[in-house]
Amino acid sequence: MIKRIAVLASGNGSNAEHITTYFKGIETVKVVAFLSNKKMAKVLDRAEELSIPAFYFTKKAFFGSDSVLRLLQALDLDMIVLAGFLWKIPLDMVRAFPGKIINLHPALLPKYGGKGMYGNRVHQAVKDNGEQETGITIHYVNENYDEGAIIHQVKVTIEPAFSVETIAQKVHELEYEHFPKIIEKLLNLQNGEN
Ligand code: GAR
Repeated sequence: MIKRIAVLASGNGSNAEHITTYFKGIETVKVVAFLSNKKMAKVLDRAEELSIPAFYFTKKAFFGSDSVLRLLQALDLDMIVLAGFLWKIPLDMVRAFPGKIINLHPALLPKYGGKGMYGNRVHQAVKDNGEQETGITIHYVNENYDEGAIIHQVKVTIEPAFSVETIAQKVHELEYEHFPKIIEKLLNLQNGEN
C-alpha cells in the first residue's frame, strides 16, 4: 500500500520541498498535496514547481467550517505533516486524525514553544537567553500549541557569537536531515515494521 501524506505550511516551504524530494525516491510513500493558509506563500510556488497539487484556505474556512477537514479526509491520508504551519489545529481535526498529525518545531520543546513562537522569533529568544544548545523537536499535534507527545529531538551546539541567522541555518540543516527520515519511520511503524 502506498502511504499518502499532505504537508501544511504557512510560508517558505523549504521543509515541504525537502520532504517531497526525499520521498520522490521512495515508491511506497507519496506526497499528495501541499496546503497553505497564505495565498502568496512560497510553498505554493514550490508545489507548482514540484507538480504537487496545492490548496489554499482562509481563516474562515479553517476555523469556521469543516471544509478543510473534509478535504483532508478526501485525500485519504496516512499522515498530515505540519512544516512551518502557524495556526493551531482545531480539536475536531486533531480528533479526526488520531496519531496522524505531526509538527516540526525549531527548538527543544518544551522550551521556546507556544503561540507566537515560530521561525526567527524562536532563534532570537534562544540567543537572548544565552543558550548553549538548541535543536529540533518532532511531535504529535494535540489541541494546544507545541504540547503533543514528543517523537524525536536532535540537538546542536551554539556559540555565543552565532547570529540568529546562523542559528536558523543550523536548525534548518537538522530539519532537512531528520524530518523526512522520521516521517518515513513513523509510516513504517504504521505497517507494524520496526
Ligand atoms: C521551520 O524552521 C519550522 O521548524 C518552523 O518554521 C520553519 C519553516 O521553514 N516552524 C515553527 O516555527 C512552528 N512553530 P520552511 O517554511 O522553510 O520549511
